Amino acid sequence: MGTISQIQIEELERSHVHIPDRERVMDIIKQMKDDGPDKLQVVADFDRTLTKFTHRGSVCATCHNVLEESGLPKEYKEKAYAIRDKYFPIETDPNLSIEEKIPHMIEWWTQAHDLLMKYPLSKEMLYNMVANSSAKLRDGCTKFFDKLHASDVPLLIFSAGVGDIICEMIAQHSTMYDNMHVVSNDLDFDDNGKMIGFKGELIHVFNKNESAIHDSDYFTNLSHCTNVILMGDSLGDLQMANGAENVKAKLTIGFLNTRVKDSLELYKSKFDIVICEDESLDICNAIVNLITGSS
Ligand code: TMP
Ligand code: MG
Repeated sequence: MGTISQIQIEELERSHVHIPDRERVMDIIKQMKDDGPDKLQVVADFDRTLTKFTHRGSVCATCHNVLEESGLPKEYKEKAYAIRDKYFPIETDPNLSIEEKIPHMIEWWTQAHDLLMKYPLSKEMLYNMVANSSAKLRDGCTKFFDKLHASDVPLLIFSAGVGDIICEMIAQHSTMYDNMHVVSNDLDFDDNGKMIGFKGELIHVFNKNESAIHDSDYFTNLSHCTNVILMGDSLGDLQMANGAENVKAKLTIGFLNTRVKDSLELYKSKFDIVICEDESLDICNAIVNLITGSS
C-alpha cells in the first residue's frame, strides 16, 4: 500500500475518476502536501477544463463560440459552425495522432480567425456577448480561484481560445486575481475599439509546447514552485508546463468530456488522473484543499 493510507481523498474514489497508478498519484499528492502551497503552481487549460463541456445535457460555448452566439450577423454564426463541425471531430478523434491532427488544427484556427475578420467586432460588444452566451465556468471554479488566491498559488491559464473572452468571463462570473495569468489568442483593436486581428503567434490546441511563455520570465520567476498541477481536456494540454523549471512533482489531470468509450484508455495512458463527463472542479478542489491544508 506504500503511502496510500496516509492520504484520504474521498472524491478520488468516485466511479467516473480513473487513476491507472494510484500509489504513484498518492505519493505525488503526499509530496505536494508535505511541501505545502508555497511550492505549488497550477497550469490549466480554459475551454472545457475550467469551463463546462455540457450544462444539464446541453453543450456549452467555447471562447470562439461566444463570438458566434450573439452580436454578429447570423451568416457569421452559420459559417463558423460549419467550420467547427468539420474540425471538432478531428480534434477529438482518438484514432488520429497529434502529428496528423496539427495541419487540420492550423486550418481550423486560421479559417475561424479569417472569417471573424470579415465582421464588425468591437471591444464594447464583448461584455454582452459573454453575458448572453452559454459558456459556463465549471461548478466550483470560483472556489478553486478563491483558494489558489488565498494560498498565493500561481495559476497560469493557457488557452487556444480567445484571451479577451476568458478575461471577460472570469470578470463576470468569478474574480480575476493577481496570482492568475492568462496566455491565449488576444484580440487586437484599433484606437476606436474596432477589432483588427489577433496579437502574437497563433495558439492552437496542439502547439502549446511552442508558446513563448516557456522562454519568458513566467516560469523562471516561479522556479521555487517545484510542484506543478496541470489540468487539461486535450492531449495537447500536456505540454502546457514544458517551460516549468526545477520540477520535483507533477500531477496531470485530464477531463474527458466526449467520446469517453473510445478515448478512455488513451487518456489513462497519458494523464495521471482522468475525470469523465463531470461538470465540476470537485476533484481538483479536493486535491488543492488537501495540499493547502484546508477542507
Ligand atoms: P482551449 O485551449 O482553452 O481548450 O481552447 C481551444 C478550444 O477552442 C478547442 O477545444 C476548440 C475550440 N474552438 C472552437 O470551439 N471554435 C473555433 O473556431 C476554434 C478555432 C476553436
Ligand atoms: Mg480545452
